[in-house]
Amino acid sequence: MRIQRNPAVLSGLSLLLTISVAAAPLRPTHAPHAMVASVHELASRAGIEMLQAGGNAVDAAVATGFALAVVHPQAGNLGGGGFMLYRNAAGKARFIDFREKAPAAATENMYLDAQGNVIPESSKDSSVVGYRAIGVPGSVAGLVYAEKQYGKLSLEKVIAPAIKLARDGFPLAYEDAQDLKDDEYLASFPESKRIFLRDGNYYQPGDLFKQPELARTLERIAKNPDDFYHGAMARELAAVIHKGGGLVTAADLAAYEVKEREPVRGTYRGYDIISAPPPSSGGVALIEILNILEGFDLAKLGNRSAASIHLESEAFRRAFYDRADFMGDPDFAKVPVAQLIDKKYAEAWRDTIDTNHASPSKDLQRPSFDELERVAESHASIREPENTTHYSVVDVEGNAVSVTTTLNDSFGSRVTADGLGFLLNDEMDDFTSKVGVPNTYGLIQGPANSIGPGKRPLSAMTPTIVLKDGKLLLVIGSPGGPTIITTVANVLMGVVDFSLDIQEAVNAPRFHHQWLPDEILVEDRLSPDTMNVLRSKGHKLLVKHFWGDAECIMIDPKTGERLGASDGRNNGKAVGY
Ligand code: DON
Repeated sequence: MRIQRNPAVLSGLSLLLTISVAAAPLRPTHAPHAMVASVHELASRAGIEMLQAGGNAVDAAVATGFALAVVHPQAGNLGGGGFMLYRNAAGKARFIDFREKAPAAATENMYLDAQGNVIPESSKDSSVVGYRAIGVPGSVAGLVYAEKQYGKLSLEKVIAPAIKLARDGFPLAYEDAQDLKDDEYLASFPESKRIFLRDGNYYQPGDLFKQPELARTLERIAKNPDDFYHGAMARELAAVIHKGGGLVTAADLAAYEVKEREPVRGTYRGYDIISAPPPSSGGVALIEILNILEGFDLAKLGNRSAASIHLESEAFRRAFYDRADFMGDPDFAKVPVAQLIDKKYAEAWRDTIDTNHASPSKDLQRPSFDELERVAESHASIREPENTTHYSVVDVEGNAVSVTTTLNDSFGSRVTADGLGFLLNDEMDDFTSKVGVPNTYGLIQGPANSIGPGKRPLSAMTPTIVLKDGKLLLVIGSPGGPTIITTVANVLMGVVDFSLDIQEAVNAPRFHHQWLPDEILVEDRLSPDTMNVLRSKGHKLLVKHFWGDAECIMIDPKTGERLGASDGRNNGKAVGY
């Protein structure tokens, strides 16, 4: 999630800089053949370069993914994990799960102190910062797998742009220099301080940022990808983590495996939704939300009217309540996906919504679905700045790829692997450290998401594809922790319910509810009058400047044109040809 910035400071500075701050686009980028939308123009261009060299959408996505590991170290990564949703032009959809896994030595209570309290993030033993927060990384395995299974070009070819960017450097944008300067913990780790803070002499906007160790690591992966999990690189990485007191071993790396899963599917007002199954909660929650809302005429109530936001927030509240109780790694816990995305179940939830008054989260009564005990009452507000990144690709044939990838927090655990030049994740915090105690995103988690060896932590990442009449319409996704799910829902409903174009849907003010804390998070551009009407319905509001970074593509149903929408809340760019 991007740090909120002072617009006055920003505009003053941008006058002085040759590195421009991207203006929020008001209209989509049009291209006849293909499009890549990502948080960084250089990463989008890496993807386009592959398409123009005869590659397909997967080649482009893999090239963009590796390039993001170089140009967007806040979230682009080799040391993290993610999900790739791929739908080929013939209509076959696959979901590639390269989420991190807990190391074999992980235990259910590993983030609790002797008194049974969650260890704070300032401690070296926390689930958020430092070596013990690191889960077994999946990104390299995932990108290499996708390339081998579904790409047309070679691994060497698709990694080449990333190697060049790391070796020759690239000019840092204002936002990136600022993120490096602002991070509270990066300087606590000598290797991270040396590389990302130039030994404490902060990078300035426009400075060339070179990463020679990362370039070498990428070259090694290009030559022998197996080295990362089974060879010398695995041993080097495990040694670094062991020295720092972390749990991930060479055996954990060797045991890591990518999983291909069936995407979760639903329908909404005649559109087909294809999205992320567990271990993401994203697709299931998204479909549950849409199922609940299908029974209301949102278009009639109006885009961003208090009446529509009220109903949408009530649907968000209910889906997040179910998320907390039922979702986790499907390889370890039975997740009742079919029930949760059932239209009749949604109808029963819909009947509990009062169109005029907020339903307090503590009083929610789940319709005939009480397998688990309610777990929590305590809560905290969402903390910033966190980071993850989403990118979307559509090629000339109509193959589509939707990828969300993350280190969890901005710069992950803040640990850089000595000599290897890449940051490691803090994905362990996505597990339930303690039932009923909120994680870094204020999320209350249940026993289904408890820590265990080899488990994947529950995610909110929601890479999604939407079809109309069987044809590709939208490729969407965003970062933002739990707000990912509601951002994706907001963008989707913007197009489907409110007839916005994809850029308008991305730009529109966001709102979010996650059951607990019992409040609607709203972007401050929402009209104060609307906020007051929501308050009068009994909602508590938490107003923030902005969040998320939806990097999306829509296909114009009439012309087939690719319409790219990059999110002005960050510094991305949709590039097409
Ligand atoms: O997988 C998840 O749900 C989280 N690790 C995502 C974190 C995130 O999106 C932070 N972003 N702004």
